[in-house]
Amino acid sequence: MAEMLAVYGSPRWGGNTARLLREAVRGARESGAEVKEILLRDLNMSPCLEIYGCKKTGRCVIADDFQEVHDELLACRGLMLASPIFFYTVSAHTKILMDRCQAQWVKKYWLDATVFGQWSPKRKGLFISAGATSGKRLFEGTLLTVKYFFDVFDMELWRSLLYRALDEEDDVLRHPDYLREAYEAGRDLHAALQTLD
Ligand SMILES: Cc1cc2nc3c(=O)[nH]c(=O)nc-3n(C[C@H](O)[C@H](O)[C@H](O)COP(=O)(O)O)c2cc1C
Repeated sequence: MAEMLAVYGSPRWGGNTARLLREAVRGARESGAEVKEILLRDLNMSPCLEIYGCKKTGRCVIADDFQEVHDELLACRGLMLASPIFFYTVSAHTKILMDRCQAQWVKKYWLDATVFGQWSPKRKGLFISAGATSGKRLFEGTLLTVKYFFDVFDMELWRSLLYRALDEEDDVLRHPDYLREAYEAGRDLHAALQTLD
């Protein structure tokens, strides 16, 4: 299990968010972090079936690749999550992962009876996103989704890197400043993790 986890939520490996996340991973590794990379598009992961088999133990009962990702999410101290904006929210791959983590929500809020909003951060998360358009509210809904996904793992939304007007697969290459920002965010997140208990 690695100290940092990088989760690629885009179906495009050569796309904007993947390129940005790869830079963040490079920044983290070059500052000494151990980082595990997960490409959601390559996993066999069912959507949540809402059968609440998780009510007994806080573990999802569907036997697929989610089980390992769940363990990695619990073990990491820093998460770097990247997803494009699809219809004003995260990609389907990313949303499937989030919904499967309802098992962890059940554990935290039902089984362990954590009081909502009363937890101290055990983890820090970086969120990277890109959309084609330039609207002021482009990331509004997504940020709420990500914040509450991170909450399930006692994870603070430490920083988000949100880029507008990126559409074609390699549009981000025309913005070396974005790529540098991502590199620095990976490096700085690793440094910030050292301040956690
Ligand atoms: C199914 C789908 C839905 C999309 N919805 C939006 C949207 O709501 N708003 C937007 O600005 N861009 C939207 N886009 C464009 C992508 O967000 C954009 O191309 C982004 O750069 C893709 O990131 P990626 O290369 O990391 O996959 C959509 C693209 C697809 C394929």
